[in-house]
This record gives sequence, C-alpha cells and structure tokens, in this order.
Amino acid sequence: MDFNVKSAHPEKQRADCIIVAVSEPRRLSRAADIINQASKGYLTSLLKRGELEGKFGRFLLLQNIPGITAGRILLVGQGKETMTESAFRDLVARVALYLNDIPVSDVLSFLTEVEVKDRDIGWKIQQSILALRASQYRFDDFKSSKSKKIFSLKQMTFHVAHKKEALLGEKACEQGIAIANGIKLTKDLANVPANVCNPSYLAKQAKDFAKQHGKDIVSCAILEEKEMKALGMGLLLSVTQGSTTPAKLITLEYRGAKKSVKPIVLVGKGITFDTGGNSIKVPPHMVGMKYDMCGAATVFGVMQAAIELELPLNLIGVIPSCENMPGANSTRPEDIVTSMSGLTVEILNTDAEGRLILADALTYSERFQPAAVIDIATLTGACQLALGPYASGLMSNNDELAKSLLQAGQQSGDRAWQLPLWDEYHEALKSEFADISNVPFSDIGARTVVAGCFLAKFTQKYPWAHLDVANTATNAGSKRGATGRPVTLLMQYLLDIL
Ligand code: BES
Ligand code: MN
Ligand code: ZN
Repeated sequence: MDFNVKSAHPEKQRADCIIVAVSEPRRLSRAADIINQASKGYLTSLLKRGELEGKFGRFLLLQNIPGITAGRILLVGQGKETMTESAFRDLVARVALYLNDIPVSDVLSFLTEVEVKDRDIGWKIQQSILALRASQYRFDDFKSSKSKKIFSLKQMTFHVAHKKEALLGEKACEQGIAIANGIKLTKDLANVPANVCNPSYLAKQAKDFAKQHGKDIVSCAILEEKEMKALGMGLLLSVTQGSTTPAKLITLEYRGAKKSVKPIVLVGKGITFDTGGNSIKVPPHMVGMKYDMCGAATVFGVMQAAIELELPLNLIGVIPSCENMPGANSTRPEDIVTSMSGLTVEILNTDAEGRLILADALTYSERFQPAAVIDIATLTGACQLALGPYASGLMSNNDELAKSLLQAGQQSGDRAWQLPLWDEYHEALKSEFADISNVPFSDIGARTVVAGCFLAKFTQKYPWAHLDVANTATNAGSKRGATGRPVTLLMQYLLDIL
C-alpha cells in the first residue's frame, strides 16, 4: 500500500472513496460540510432522516453523490468532537477493516482534521498507517493453497491543510511505513512454528538481514556453544543442554553514527520453544510457546525500521537463542550453574529459563560500552495477570531511561507500565546453596517483578530497562498471532532520543 499527503478539495477529487467525519449530534466536519454544499444539502437531508447521528464507529457509504467527482463518500461517525487517543486508534482500525471489504483502490482521508486531544496531524497519520497495514497483515506461508487475499486498497492519501502540516505529514508517512515494515518482520518471524524457527533459523535470518543491508551498514556475528563455553555462559548453556538443536548467540550491529557514539543495545529473548524443560508445562500452557522468541523478533523489527529510516545512531541487537526442552541431559531442578558474570545460580525451576539466557546475554552486552541496554522478553505469564493485554511491564535501574520509555509508550499507543525493583523483592531470590536462585524457594507472588530483580543482578554496569511482553507480544483471547509489539514503542523511543 502506498501512502502520501496532499492538500485536497473534498468535492473535486477523483478518488474511489473519500472519508469524512461526522460527530455527535449530527454535526458535519469541515470536509463533510463542503461536500454537503457541493451536493446541495444531500448530507443534511440524510442526517435529518436519522441516517447518521455521528455515533462512534457508525459508517454510511454513499455512492453517486450529486456534484461530487469522487466515486464514494464514506461518512464516519467519530462520536465526540474532540477524540481521545484510544478512540481515534479504535476508529482508524475500524475504518481500515471496512475499507478492505469494499472495492476501492484509491482513498482520500479527511480524518486528519479530526481533533485528537494533544496530538498533531503527524500522530494521526502514523496511527492510520499502522492500522491500515495491520488490517492487511496475513500469515499464510504454511497454507497449501496460496489463494492470498488480494486487497483492492492500494493507495491512501491523507489531507493536509497547509505547508507545515504537509511537512509533518510526509515525515509521518515515512516513519509510519518504516515502523509498519518492522512490525511485519517481527510478526513474520514470530509466527513461524518452532519446528522451522529454531536457533539456527534465527541465525540464518540475521545473516541474511546483514547481507541484505550491506556490510558497512549492518554486521552480524554468531557465537556457537563452544564459544559460549569459553566465555563462561553457564546459564545459557544450562537451558540449551536438553535440546538437540544447538544454541546461538546472535549479534547484529547497525552503525548509523560515528564509532565514538555509544550504542543502544537491544537484547531479545530468543527461546524458540519453551516446554518448561524438566519443570514441564501442562499442555494448555505449552501452546503459544513458539512465541517465546518474540523479544528476538522485536529486535529484528526495530533494527529493520531504524535502518530504513537511516537513524543517526548506533544500535546493537543481541539475541540469545535456544530451545527449552526436557530430556536425558536437561537441567534438573536444584542444579547449580555459574553465570558469565561469576554469580552462581541454583535453578529451582527450569521453566524460568528466559531470565537465565538473558542474564548471560546482558553480561555479554557490557563489552559494547552501551549508552543503555533494553531487554525485551516474553518473561512471565504473571505479566498478563498484572496488566492484561494493554501495557507491557517495564522495570529499570535508571529513572531517566524508564521515563523516556513510558513517554514513548504513551505517545505511540504501544504503552508500558512501570513495576518496582525494591530490595524486598530481591530478598526472594536468596539461595541456601548458591549466590542466588532463579525463582524464590517459597513463592511470594509478584513473579514479573521477581524476574526483573533477577535480571537486575546482571545489569549493574549500565543504564538498563526490561520490557516484559508476555502479555503484549501476542494477541489476547481466542485471536492468535503476534502483534509486533513493542516495535512501535522502541522506535518512538529511538526517534525521541535523536
Ligand atoms: N515463556 C514463559 C512466560 C510466558 C508465559 C510467556 C505465558 C507467554 C505466555 C516463561 O519462560 C515462563 O515459563 N515463566 C514462568 C516463570 C515461573 C516458573 C516463575 C511463568 O510465567 O509461569
Ligand atoms: Mn519458561
Ligand atoms: Zn519462556
């Protein structure tokens, strides 16, 4: 789909469809009013007959409107005249679904004129692009009949009022498209089943990714188990030892700024399947565990978008990847292993594996002398209990970094919510026999926070934030599939710090 902006007269357009808003009660927007005048009161006559009250989410599609050159007018009920951010997002998602059901290819939207509290036109355009691209996402690589649904919608133009809006709008198109492309990559990787998407597959994707962008822009390095052993990555190795597919530690480096500029490091959990290991999951909890590499997929998506926008920064992705399998050689509860940092860990529950592979990857990340490290992980089921599907869990050892991420979440709509890392929670990880344990010996609850505390013990050398996306990286309820979160949040963060 193509996106662009132009300053347009609603009555004189040749588009297949023009979208204009009506708010409650029966109030025409500026563009709707112009169409009404050009059609000699056609819209007011419809409103008078009670055809559209302006109620949120109600649509009315008109054809062959007198005095109008466009083929169709889609009247969209926006509800209140000043919309909230979430109502606007909801509205453009509904509009996107509606457009995919009617035979239009070229659409002009005047929803850019709708007032959204505290948000400018760039924001409205970016939200619209993300909604449209999401509405056309399908994953059918594994369907035998490739009757891919062809969408008729090919071109979306957003109305801008003047030069300043045009500049904001063009920038929003460019950024929206790049972020949508990143999200698509994240979803595509995440949706691939674990019998195909194993650590070697991710490593191959990383190598191809680097090749595709060119050596002087992106470089890729893959560490094998032998090298992990030499580095002392006992935690990562303890997770992979029950699996027959080898673990990989993937590093992708994007150089967008001078070498002297300290990089942002993104560390993504890449468990390509999580059975729980010897602390095996019950069957209903195991379904969905192909998505335990969504953090890794997010790293790919963010790097893709950042590179497409040629962001002037240095960005490094670190992906520890392996399977968590039961087996004759897999880790037993109460085994004690030594991390790369030197801390010894008693593994009381082999299903708390994400924190183990991340801990070694976080220690490894010290070598990049990062400005900040952000890890992204489907880490705890409890995050869903705490926050439902709306906000990712955020924990950090740096208030400024946390604030920036929260702000980026609020701005982009891909929100996060901060949880504490207080000393009291750290206490829970004391072990009788090792330096720490990977889960509390006696449960205190707060599993999302305790997991964050575990990671915090390995991130003392740099500003660090942890995003638990167990609740946001995949769709909630009966809807399946990856969401592409938190690519948008992280892109907003990167754009904000430039
Ligand atoms: N990958 C899971 C977390 C998860 C659960 C992600 C549900 C998405 C949906 C993680 O490795 C795990 O198993 N966590 C345990 C931790 C527990 C053993 C302390 C959990 O959440 O139950
Ligand atoms: Mn697990
Ligand atoms: Zn897991």
